[in-house]
Amino acid sequence: MENQKISFIGPGVMAEAMIAGLIRQEVALPSEMVASGPRVERGDELKARYGIQAMTDNAAAVRDADVIILSVKPQRLDPVLMGLQGEVKPDALIISIVAGAPIAKISGILEHDSVVRAMPNTPAQIGEGITVWTAAPAVSEGQREMARQILAALGHEIFMEEEYYLNMATALSGTGPAYVFLFMEAMVDAGVHLGFPRRVAEQLVAQTVRGSVDYYTRSTDPVHLARLRNQVTSPGGTSAAALYYLEKAGFRTAISRAVWAAYERSWELGRDAKAHWPENVSSEDGN
Ligand SMILES: NC(=O)c1ccc[n+]([C@@H]2O[C@H](COP(=O)([O-])OP(=O)(O)OC[C@H]3O[C@@H](n4cnc5c(N)ncnc54)[C@H](OP(=O)(O)O)[C@@H]3O)[C@@H](O)[C@H]2O)c1
Repeated sequence: MENQKISFIGPGVMAEAMIAGLIRQEVALPSEMVASGPRVERGDELKARYGIQAMTDNAAAVRDADVIILSVKPQRLDPVLMGLQGEVKPDALIISIVAGAPIAKISGILEHDSVVRAMPNTPAQIGEGITVWTAAPAVSEGQREMARQILAALGHEIFMEEEYYLNMATALSGTGPAYVFLFMEAMVDAGVHLGFPRRVAEQLVAQTVRGSVDYYTRSTDPVHLARLRNQVTSPGGTSAAALYYLEKAGFRTAISRAVWAAYERSWELGRDAKAHWPENVSSEDGN
């Protein structure tokens, strides 16, 4: 990706993860990157940390950019897009990581067809993220490859032909770390309730989760998660007693409904554009 100027509009947490990843993976040079946002201090911070350029003028930041990464909050997207009208080079590639924002909205306001929509997640900050992405038909093969390289700097990436998968990914992997952290926090609190010092409980929970994930992902044959769970569930044992309570408390249903709520919210965030709603998007009680 030599000599490709990359502009970040919205220099927040995810933009920083991408900047760090791109430098770490040597996909882009700091001198080729610029970040634009409203706060001078934030720009100075990124400049000092990574040696990139920083600006407070979004329009100036995109004017000669080859790749524009939109990383503002969904609620800020409309005014930001309005401010970029007429400023994007015709051959530039736009990559949006804004939750819920449909490609049609971005290309409609900017009158620009080369748009990639991506949904990363926060482990991207250590290069362990997973990003689901899709591309508008006008995105060239070369631009797709460029998008792939940029997103791979965050960890794993999965391309999906249809855009509707993006809202699903938002609910499952984009929001996923929140579910995992809540689960871990609950486990730690339970450990403290039992009597462990918090530090020890945190260590036990973190390594249990890490070890379980590694055990699952490193098994040579594809293995169903239920089989691994059965391995630790002896008849009349401790796991059986605990799992009984989790099932009784509606654990699976709670997870499923939480993911569905995030999915609905993702559609809501992009609703004002020409997005179609998923069939059966329903109220909280499933009606
Ligand atoms: N965090 C996640 O887990 C995650 C995962 C996947 C996708 N995303 C998506 O990534 C996007 C960014 O999320 P984030 O967590 O990085 O949020 P964030 O840390 O709040 O970053 C947003 C950035 O946009 C800046 N900003 C506000 N108004 C602006 C404007 N008019 N022009 C340019 N920049 C402006 C903010 O500056 P100030 O701080 O000065 O207001 C902030 O630096 C969101 O759309 C989100 O849906 C997030």
